[in-house]
Amino acid sequence: SLDPYHVSEEFGFILPAPLAELPPYYQPWMDIAQHVTELIYSHMLRSHILKMPLLNTQLLESHRELRLAHLALGVMTMGYVWQEGEDDTVKMLPRNLAIPYCEVSQRLGLPPILTHADAILANWRKRDPQGLFDMENLELLVTLPGGDSVRGFFMVTLLVELAAVPAIKSIPLVINGVQCGDAETVTRALEEFSQAIQGMTDALKLMHVYVKPEVFYGIMRIYLSGWKDNSSMPAGLVYEGVQAEPMEYSGGSAAQSSLLHCFDELLGVKHEAMSGAFLTRMRNYMPPSHKRLIQDISLQPSLRGFVQQQACEPLTAAFQLCVTKLLALRNYHINVVSLFIIVPAARARQLRNQGNISQEETVSRAPRALEEKGTGGSDIMSFLKTVRDRTRDVFNLK
Ligand code: ALA
Repeated sequence: SLDPYHVSEEFGFILPAPLAELPPYYQPWMDIAQHVTELIYSHMLRSHILKMPLLNTQLLESHRELRLAHLALGVMTMGYVWQEGEDDTVKMLPRNLAIPYCEVSQRLGLPPILTHADAILANWRKRDPQGLFDMENLELLVTLPGGDSVRGFFMVTLLVELAAVPAIKSIPLVINGVQCGDAETVTRALEEFSQAIQGMTDALKLMHVYVKPEVFYGIMRIYLSGWKDNSSMPAGLVYEGVQAEPMEYSGGSAAQSSLLHCFDELLGVKHEAMSGAFLTRMRNYMPPSHKRLIQDISLQPSLRGFVQQQACEPLTAAFQLCVTKLLALRNYHINVVSLFIIVPAARARQLRNQGNISQEETVSRAPRALEEKGTGGSDIMSFLKTVRDRTRDVFNLK
């Protein structure tokens, strides 16, 4: 069962029914968090945060309260750091924000920076509670600059997480089937698994409908980026009142989603060197129970070994289809990244080389530090292509 891992039958890694409000004592946080975008545009966010009272986090009790607090403090922190762009950052996060943020982070086992678990998994509500979990009926709890494209980017990512739920549910069936030597059960579970990966790719296609590349590239990305492996914050960030030494944390990354980590462990995709180290580090940016699921999958007897040993045609075909679908998802993701990052980055460079550094084109506003990097700090294209190539290696069944 997936219960001990806080993985839901209906929602997978998505937090079911996130809270939209904190107890009234925390209204000073929510008043700012719910207006981060406007406060960034008016250059007033930093001064509002400096005037915020230092609140006691002990009044936060439930997991869902802590998750909303982490999300709210997260968007405030991203806005505080990046309010004036990459050339006018800060060295220190003020104590009224830093102290409660680190306390809440510690209780959740998450880092004190905005993560996938915050911005995607815990940042949604249904407009009509009886209505569907779809683009029309979903809205964000808090947002960042970029308007509809922020909603689009976060919600499409959420729909990819939802599309993966049947795949997550099939994992225990695969593992049990391997343990019992039941090739038929494993085959059926893998068929379910590959279909769900196809569903994830189909959901990812909605990026093109709901996100504008120039807005994503020129406006949004900086607010998702962090203070590790980022040349505009080389020294990291001091969390005032927590620790005198600056701390370094990576910005948001799809590598913080537990999905593909689980799939890779199940299918036997092995990552190496730099990309492997980055993926391993990103597991510390997930809720600890989700990280534990990945680790427990990795400890199971090898599915790939079982498939080879059984030498049974339908089982081998089902397994290979899973790898094919995972490869296709990763290739599709590379195409999305090309369109939303590589192409706008080239346009920004071209404008700069023409001496045209005016703000007339949105892409010109993008931070240079993120031109070749993911917001998580990876060398984005070489990272994605290496990960894709290691997926392909699973085919070389020996
Ligand atoms: N990780 C995504 C990027 O690099 C959000 O822009």
